[in-house]
Amino acid sequence: MLEKAQRRLQPSARSAVPPFMVMDVMAAAARLEAQGRRVIHMEVGQPAVGAPATALAAARAALSAGPLGYTETLGIASLRRRIAKAYGEWHGLDIDPARIVVTTGSSGGFVLAFLAAFEAGDRVAVALPGYPPYRHILAALGCQPVCIETTAQTRWSITGEALLALHRAQPLKGLIVASPANPTGTMMTAPALADLIRCAEDAGIVVISDEIYHGLDYAFAAETAARLTDDAIIINSFSKYFCMTGWRIGWIVAPPSLMRAVERLQGNLAISVPTLSQIAAEAAFDAREELTQVKHCYEENRRILLEGLPRAGLDSFLPVDGAFYLYADVSRFSTDSFAFATRMLEEAGVAATPGVDFDPVRGRHFLRLCYAGSREEMHEAVQRIGAWLKDAPR
Ligand SMILES: Cc1ncc(COP(=O)(O)O)c(C=O)c1O
Repeated sequence: MLEKAQRRLQPSARSAVPPFMVMDVMAAAARLEAQGRRVIHMEVGQPAVGAPATALAAARAALSAGPLGYTETLGIASLRRRIAKAYGEWHGLDIDPARIVVTTGSSGGFVLAFLAAFEAGDRVAVALPGYPPYRHILAALGCQPVCIETTAQTRWSITGEALLALHRAQPLKGLIVASPANPTGTMMTAPALADLIRCAEDAGIVVISDEIYHGLDYAFAAETAARLTDDAIIINSFSKYFCMTGWRIGWIVAPPSLMRAVERLQGNLAISVPTLSQIAAEAAFDAREELTQVKHCYEENRRILLEGLPRAGLDSFLPVDGAFYLYADVSRFSTDSFAFATRMLEEAGVAATPGVDFDPVRGRHFLRLCYAGSREEMHEAVQRIGAWLKDAPR
């Protein structure tokens, strides 16, 4: 009977998206820990600390207060107003709360944005290296991700020139930009972002700006696409700056013309976003001091790695501008970053993500290290990597 069901129930072709290789690294790290080994986790891209105290207090109060029903599909009105107000505080911008959609993390925001803006078959440009789910969600929805390889010359970001060259060869419908970016941790300067958005919009290409790492910028201030245009779809999240990954809550700032479509989609796909998370998220805006402290920790971790890793032997990385990632070139040691990461984990006890997750070809030469852990862990990671690279036979 089971065999018959298996024959009948074949997964759809569109569901055949690649898995995240970092999951293999995490599983290997868990096996080592089960054997009693201590592992320094630099593979997972999430804050080591939890949601701010104000968010937790609001959530506890809401749990005691009574039933948590559905909310309005676009999100609780006071939260939408609070998010809009934050654009005034952060960027001096006046954003209409009517343009804010609360989503289940930025991940939920991508699904809504792609469905609202693109038809099946539409070509959408993404950067390589880049966050893999952009490509995979687009593919699962029947769109066609088109990769643009970025280089050091353009601070690892897509340029207007590269975008238009591709558009002339075969028209594009969309473009995804991210600054700060994952896995590279690099950022676009404000003029570079403005130029890219102008080129895209002049050519009729819809811009989606993933601003999930906003607030975590060290080299210079991150620019928001909201300042440059009302036509881009801006996606953000409470996962990173606000340290609320598990609460699965984010938001979109959408062009007014797409609002009704997004509302219809979210209403059908999810009804509404978890109420408890919305209540906690609104209170997280009151945690400015706590979140500033967390950001200072990342800055200190970044300094420890920038000083320590070159001495340890890892001396080639992309500009460490923002987010909490350092993308290190390990080609001096290996042309197989997955094998390199596996050995580094087993022999040095430091878990990192192989670049192949983010760039199937050139990623063989890169490792992504996440520095969202503690200062002590960063010191220890530098020391362990140094000792390992010195002693390990190659
Ligand atoms: C660049 C980028 N965008 C989006 C996400 C998704 O985050 P979430 O769905 O938790 O908001 C991540 C998660 O790591 C990310 O790195």
